[in-house]
Amino acid sequence: MSNEAITSLLKETRRFDPPAEFAARARITSREAYDALYRESLDDPDTFWRREAKDLVFRTPWTQTVEWNLPHAKWFQGATLNVSESCLDRHMSTPTRNKAAIIWEGEYGETRTLTYAQLYRETVLFADALAKLGVEKGDRVAIYMGMVPEVAVAMLACARLGAVHTVIFGGFAADAIRDRVHDCQAKVVITQDGGYRRGHVLELKSTVDKALAQPQSASVQKTVVLRHLGAEKCPVTMVEGRDVWWHDIVDPNGHARREATIVDAEHPLFILYTSGSTGKPKGVLHTTAGYLVGTHVTTKYVFDLRDDDVYWCTADVGWVTGHSYIVYGPLSNGATCLLYEGAPNFPDWGRFWRLIERHGVTILYTAPTAIRAFMRQGDDWPKKSDLSSLRLLGSVGEPINPEAWIWYHKNIGGERCPIVDTWWQTETGSILMTTLPGAAAAKPGSTGLPMFGVVPDVVTKEGTSVGANAGGMLVLKRPWPSMLRTVWGDDERFRKQYFSDIEGCYFTGDGARRDEDGYYWVVGRIDDVLNVAGHRIGTAEIESTLVSHPAVAEAAAVGRPDDLKGQALVVFVSLRPGFSANPELATKLANHVGQEIGKFARPDQIRFADALPKTRSGKIMRRLLKDVASGRETTGDTSTLEDLSVLAKLRSNEE
Ligand code: WTA
Repeated sequence: MSNEAITSLLKETRRFDPPAEFAARARITSREAYDALYRESLDDPDTFWRREAKDLVFRTPWTQTVEWNLPHAKWFQGATLNVSESCLDRHMSTPTRNKAAIIWEGEYGETRTLTYAQLYRETVLFADALAKLGVEKGDRVAIYMGMVPEVAVAMLACARLGAVHTVIFGGFAADAIRDRVHDCQAKVVITQDGGYRRGHVLELKSTVDKALAQPQSASVQKTVVLRHLGAEKCPVTMVEGRDVWWHDIVDPNGHARREATIVDAEHPLFILYTSGSTGKPKGVLHTTAGYLVGTHVTTKYVFDLRDDDVYWCTADVGWVTGHSYIVYGPLSNGATCLLYEGAPNFPDWGRFWRLIERHGVTILYTAPTAIRAFMRQGDDWPKKSDLSSLRLLGSVGEPINPEAWIWYHKNIGGERCPIVDTWWQTETGSILMTTLPGAAAAKPGSTGLPMFGVVPDVVTKEGTSVGANAGGMLVLKRPWPSMLRTVWGDDERFRKQYFSDIEGCYFTGDGARRDEDGYYWVVGRIDDVLNVAGHRIGTAEIESTLVSHPAVAEAAAVGRPDDLKGQALVVFVSLRPGFSANPELATKLANHVGQEIGKFARPDQIRFADALPKTRSGKIMRRLLKDVASGRETTGDTSTLEDLSVLAKLRSNEE
């Protein structure tokens, strides 16, 4: 692991105090109030969490707040519950019952609204249907769908049965589905005929067919198919005995009577696959009570949620942001959520802003890569819509460049909305650091202060805390309720990946600095994980995919700074004998990655090399390749490089 990536060059001095009007009615109104709550969460976690979780439904209360046997934490033991009761049932006896839970807009502009009562009913009916298909407590169910209300129904229905869902982002290709289904031995796959993306039909069911045709997917007994586009736009082939239509197993006039399966606090809730620095994707496991409490509390405080908010998180439900901040966090708070099916620029770059005006969105939570893309289109698009309903903006996924922050603040937030820059990971389950609105000033580019119960630190490789404003590795020193519990089926990997780099701490893989006010500034990953347009991409996965192509002998994937995507993906490839480097082959190889993993992982550039620079022990020296890819002089140490001429050759190959 190299330390070079963690020097923080950004010295941003602008400060934005919470707007007075916002602060006056915020849930947390001052830094002192935040400090007091934060202290309590560390000194007296039991009192703190019991009070903050009081709105959630526990059939039996917990007896032990946390048990910490590094690296294993157990939270809220003794509690029994079902997450779906906190998200749905509890609202049935309050006026929230008739409030919109999900306002959906399709890419072509049609809309549908589900109240909490309707969402409850759909979920209970679907859970009953799944149970009749044979889904039982503990079974794994894969969900491969687009952004339609039924994706939330499917997740909640699994939770209601105590089944473990694994949502696979709809942009993934068949082989990625196969690998995930195989890894968790999914019994059922829930999908839909197809969805829209930028005016094109995304064929989801036929991709599932390709995945399930492979022997590795033998665990799957049934697939449930939602009809969304219809037979004319997206015909599908139903496999006899395996595939059933959603509308055939759910009777809209049926009796919604399925009781929730009550589970223990640590019962698995879902697995979400994410990229690591080595090998195949990791199945990050989240469990029931801690995850629910973590997402519930952060949604309420970070977004300063009010009963009359219309909240819009633009993430896809296939990523963790969609799990925590479209489904579990907002619904457990009784929020009204906007769900949008399509692309931000369909049919033009004004779409997001029209959505905000049309639905009166008050809270917008999106990613820096989207903000940069909008920024590039100029200031006129947002001006065409009335954005005055907005009162809070959020950012997640990667560090936000101060210039993008300022643009967002001015052009979208009308200089009146606080911006919450939220740092967290698939593994952390919920937001762990943020510029809390109302409580403290925001500094563009900084992710602010730790959330309750979270103890971050910036340390050297040896684990010593560095002083204010020095760069180092970002670690977490205490367990938090929504932390991952393990890597599915591979506890050793869990230990190694997160708890072996720095003694006694969870290592995030990020580099950071903490300033004199205690604000954190994340500078990016320091392991071999790339962050391309907010998607975490493991270099190893890209490389293995390329090496699976007959022309490729060896491959090394690295990131190069990119204005729009944060990082662009550059892959160095050496060819097998008999193949020659040419632009057609480069396109073919890039397409190959697009097909195998998904379009979002398609390399931006393929560069051919006779050989890749390696250490004497045979490890590819990515840090040198990174310099080459970004056109930088190599400043780092090359003493371990096996053959210096390799580097010279790579440079002379530059286009
Ligand atoms: C990065 C997404 C800076 C970081 C929720 C982290 C951020 C990785 C921020 C996790 C932020 C996320 N500022 N960097 N506000 N939010 N990151 O698992 O490198 O897809 O480790 O979770 O994204 O990505 P993941």
